[in-house]
Amino acid sequence: MNFQPVKGTHDLFGEEMIGMQYVIDVLSATAELYAYKRISTPVLEYTEVFSRGTGGSSDIVRKEMYTFNDKGDRSVTMRPEFTAGVVRSVVSNKMYAEGGDLPLKLYYHGPAFRYERPQLGRYRQFHQFGVEEIGIDSPRADAECIIMAMQSLYMLGFKNLRLKINSIGDEESRNNYRNALKEYFSGKLDEMCEDCHERINLNPLRILDCKVPHDQEIAKGAPKIKDYLSEASESRFYETLSIINDLGIEYELDDSLVRGLDYYSEVVFEIHALSDAGVDYGALCGGGHYGGLVKQLGGPDLAGVGYAMGVERVYNVAKDDGLLSELDTGIDLYVIPVGEEVLDDVFNITEEIRSLGFSVDNPLVSGKLGSAFKKAERRGAKFALILGEDELERGVGQLKNLKTKEQKEIDLNDLENELDEAMKPFDEQEHHHHEEKE
Ligand code: HAM
Repeated sequence: MNFQPVKGTHDLFGEEMIGMQYVIDVLSATAELYAYKRISTPVLEYTEVFSRGTGGSSDIVRKEMYTFNDKGDRSVTMRPEFTAGVVRSVVSNKMYAEGGDLPLKLYYHGPAFRYERPQLGRYRQFHQFGVEEIGIDSPRADAECIIMAMQSLYMLGFKNLRLKINSIGDEESRNNYRNALKEYFSGKLDEMCEDCHERINLNPLRILDCKVPHDQEIAKGAPKIKDYLSEASESRFYETLSIINDLGIEYELDDSLVRGLDYYSEVVFEIHALSDAGVDYGALCGGGHYGGLVKQLGGPDLAGVGYAMGVERVYNVAKDDGLLSELDTGIDLYVIPVGEEVLDDVFNITEEIRSLGFSVDNPLVSGKLGSAFKKAERRGAKFALILGEDELERGVGQLKNLKTKEQKEIDLNDLENELDEAMKPFDEQEHHHHEEKE
């Protein structure tokens, strides 16, 4: 038997798991700075949440969903993205009702599922970190959201980010634009792919996302949304841009950016970064404003804005750029028993050290001293605490700094102070790194 993970899925462990967790921690900490609170919604939703929410004309809903009937014959779908589910949750729980604190500021992370063709930076099960701000309809809210996306990547140490922004306008703008697109493409449909024949009726905006090279070539000559923006949408867009600009954040206007999900209106954006080595893992982040989604899913007429990042992609670029090289992945201490007789005491002392808040382990069974030291090293322990019968009788231990090899006898009856003292240089170092990052 030779079981492999399902195509497009991958196991996370070791260095990659630690790095991805770190990415999530920094993104979460930044969201908390912006007063967001975490929400966790189910992986499974009724299929309608996505077909109505994410949108029937999107590639995601048309082709990429893991949809099946459960044993009760209800059609359920494993979330291809979070926004529709989070908005469903806001509505189911009436979070906006009296006493609700608008705007709702919610962040989330977890796995999402899309049946896409796996390639570099693209998986069938991947992880997103995202935010949704719901209940305030203002270019200032939109701008804050975009700024926060950039800030959280700066917090990870990213430097060369490309922020692409566009406006797809309000309902009126998009209706006029769709008509213009219909007119433009209808004469050229013969040359275009089967999918685009469907797209022109479902939502001609989606033709602009078509991946077929020849279709992309044709799309280049298509009318631009900026020529169809209503006055209100245009001035709203410039207000958003000027807030971002005032903070010194650079952006590129990209009039081909329409985003592949149906719920967007007004401003949309993506953040891209080539790794230092020039590798393109795809967009790190995508998001935008959504005017009608909450209502579409049965709630009141509340606007929202949000984004999601691909955690694998952020991790991969960060790793390639050396932003994760100083991650401390080791434990504080490894206790090394000398002889079978001390195993019970070592077991108890290890528990005591844990209760003091230090990460620590021991070999549990007796073995050679050399192999215990190897284990200590593999765990990335800062110190080894060597305990033999003689030491235990005297109530002491030998504390060895595994980097400098310095060794010092410590008092087991004063473990807390002894270990605090020993860890000090490391704490200062960590603090120092933290300051450098900021
Ligand atoms: P999205 O652009 O579909 O937007 O996905 C956001 C990010 O998730 C992408 O920029 C990419 O980094 C990552 N991603 C998407 N698909 C894959 C994949 N197959 N493999 C690896 N990473 C992937 C949304 O999902 C919206 N819900 C964002 C949003 C939130 N808009 C408003 N609020």
